[in-house]
Amino acid sequence: MHSDSVVRDMPIKKTVEDLARFGGSAVFSERIHVGRPNIGCRDKFLKRLNDILDSKWLTNHGPNVQEFEAKIADFCGVRHCVSTSNGTMALEIAIRALGLTGEVIVPAFTFVATAHALQWQEITPVFCDVDPVTHNLNPEKIESLITSKTTGIIPVHLWGNPCGVEEVESVAKKHDLQVVYDASHAFGCSHKDRMVGSFGSVEVFSFHATKFINSFEGGGIVTDNDELAEKMRLMTNFGFAGMDKVIHLGTNGKMSEVSAAMGLTNLECMSKIVDQNFENYQSYKAILANIPGIRFFTHTESEKRNFQYVVIELDEEVVGLSRDIFMEILHAENVLARRYFYPGCHRMAPYEHSLSGKTAWLPETEKLLNKVLVLPTGTDVCQRTIEKICAIIIYSIEHASDIRKMLEASGVEST
Ligand SMILES: Cc1ncc(COP(=O)(O)O)c(C=O)c1O
Repeated sequence: MHSDSVVRDMPIKKTVEDLARFGGSAVFSERIHVGRPNIGCRDKFLKRLNDILDSKWLTNHGPNVQEFEAKIADFCGVRHCVSTSNGTMALEIAIRALGLTGEVIVPAFTFVATAHALQWQEITPVFCDVDPVTHNLNPEKIESLITSKTTGIIPVHLWGNPCGVEEVESVAKKHDLQVVYDASHAFGCSHKDRMVGSFGSVEVFSFHATKFINSFEGGGIVTDNDELAEKMRLMTNFGFAGMDKVIHLGTNGKMSEVSAAMGLTNLECMSKIVDQNFENYQSYKAILANIPGIRFFTHTESEKRNFQYVVIELDEEVVGLSRDIFMEILHAENVLARRYFYPGCHRMAPYEHSLSGKTAWLPETEKLLNKVLVLPTGTDVCQRTIEKICAIIIYSIEHASDIRKMLEASGVEST
């Protein structure tokens, strides 16, 4: 079993000058990524690829797409999955099919696509603060943001941890709002023993290359509503209801056969991927969870989880260095840890106007944006790699004051 004391004794660096940030050689000769794609069984994928090439059925709801959709719907316990070219397209189509307009409430702490999918259709995303522990939309803060223009809520099941579904649904019901769950992180996860994908009117998945189940690029909208599924299917295919028969406004949002083949290949080894993610998560947790100044984001292990994100929060006051300096130190060692979702959707160019004049807005989101660091995991990351990554983190905390001195001497702010 790993522990911080074992890692503490690892001879990772002799002196602070040996850190790659200060010119020493990097611990890793190759870059270690967050969300490096899981490939699955190459032979099975290549067999499917060959079949696609032989059949010359490359897209337009071919057999791989049909099989992929059936498997996703079955897995989530719903009647329909409408596959799409990516998760953003899935959100856009779901939003349009449900007739959302005006303003829609979204968590401020999310990937920018949640907001873009609305703004792209000239619907205003209204940013809501999140819960400091779960990192999910804080249901108690929704009501004060509702106006006469509000038509819906898009909560995100961040890190694969379902949001407060019951509380969100109750606010939505009270104010007659639609709910579209952005479940991009949460395929394979459950809430009260019910699979994510079966909540609300629709839920949306991303099968992007960085997600634990990927279809290169891809997305899926899952629902039990036959009429809605039919409408969304039309919308992904230019509104075609048959040859020469367009009965609805639509776009090209289709998933290709090769993407579905990759998705199917990944699905076949899903339990292996989750097991490896879980093992990695446990190793990080055993080493980092008790280090003062680190808050380790814990997944609810009594429910199904995909463990595809290993997330820590660094308390600068306790560890003595800012999260950004930690990130720089790790990057120099070729550990490409990420500061999700920095600088925050509300601070990005298309949305920063909404900031004007507001102080103390989104306080919990602001804190997380400066504390969160996402660490590498996935099938390419092994136990030894995790021990070394943790050793760099622990070494940096233990030598924070020397690191600060070195940085200050070179004119860099360290906190
Ligand atoms: C929370 C969230 N929403 C939406 C998306 C968009 O998905 P995609 O990249 O497949 O378009 C992502 C993906 O990265 C995401 O993490």
